[in-house]
Amino acid sequence: MSQLLAGKKGVIFGALDERSLAWHVALRCMEEGAQIVLTNTEVAIQLGTVRDLASAHGLPLIVCDATNLEDIRDLFARAQELLGGQVDFVLHAVAQSTNLRRHKSYEEANYTYFQQTIDISALSLHKILHTAMEMDAIAEGGSVVALSYIASERYFYGYNDMGDAKAMLESIARQMGALYGRKKRVRVNIVSPSPIPTKAGGGWKEIDFFYRYSNHLSPLGNADADDCAGVCVVLFSDLMKRVTMQTIYCDGGFGRTILTPELVDDYRRIEEVKDKNED
Ligand SMILES: NC(=O)c1ccc[n+]([C@@H]2O[C@H](COP(=O)([O-])OP(=O)(O)OC[C@H]3O[C@@H](n4cnc5c(N)ncnc54)[C@H](O)[C@@H]3O)[C@@H](O)[C@H]2O)c1
Repeated sequence: MSQLLAGKKGVIFGALDERSLAWHVALRCMEEGAQIVLTNTEVAIQLGTVRDLASAHGLPLIVCDATNLEDIRDLFARAQELLGGQVDFVLHAVAQSTNLRRHKSYEEANYTYFQQTIDISALSLHKILHTAMEMDAIAEGGSVVALSYIASERYFYGYNDMGDAKAMLESIARQMGALYGRKKRVRVNIVSPSPIPTKAGGGWKEIDFFYRYSNHLSPLGNADADDCAGVCVVLFSDLMKRVTMQTIYCDGGFGRTILTPELVDDYRRIEEVKDKNED
């Protein structure tokens, strides 16, 4: 390994189980020489397997609800104590939509759930960055990455209120990136991956169809969790020291593709069947 993150210290939000994108990012950060602290909610720690990751690698695991300012303050204080100084990088891999999980249609969303989706999946990034600034917890030139999805900018049937949360998350990354960049040269970027089977990524009814569709449409095929982790590691590294306020797509080219010859053929076949049925 190239030890891209040698000497760097990081906080990783969002590892629930071995499928979690944050789990893969944590492993890649360690391979590249970083020292890390894991964090998640009390419930996630009880229900998931992140304790196994922590104990296998001797990592501190700190309880923090990313919507709670007091928890975030406590997390940064403890992380700095345990790591022996300011943090160099933070991964925000936090999302949840009860509307999506309960299969509510977008136009009939429950507003209490909607507010929770925004609070957990978007405002939490603001709270984390606000607290880090206030405590001066991120070192000069540090790097923060949050994970988003292309449904932040394009209509995506079934992605529900998470589309609004991701649009807001990306906007917060730009606004805070501008402010934190001037203040401390801290970068804030978004990584937007392909759909990947995880707990948060699997709440949608048509998901199995969509994995296949996305894989087909992407010139390079779907990216996996390890591909996504690689992009995060490079963004945490000094190689990207002047890249900030960006959304970087790790999606095999999906977001830049509209049509393929195979889709034209498939659609023609559907039309032919329809015509036959009408005759
Ligand atoms: N899997 C995909 O297809 C995909 C695609 C694009 C983007 N993403 C994004 O990647 C990120 C990670 O998701 P994942 O797919 O690894 O699923 P995941 O379910 O493994 O991770 C989501 C994490 O958010 C945590 N979380 C929920 N509420 C929280 C709170 N209040 N405070 C702190 N943590 C909280 C959960 O405990 C969990 O660890 C999310 O932002 C997700 O939207 C995922």
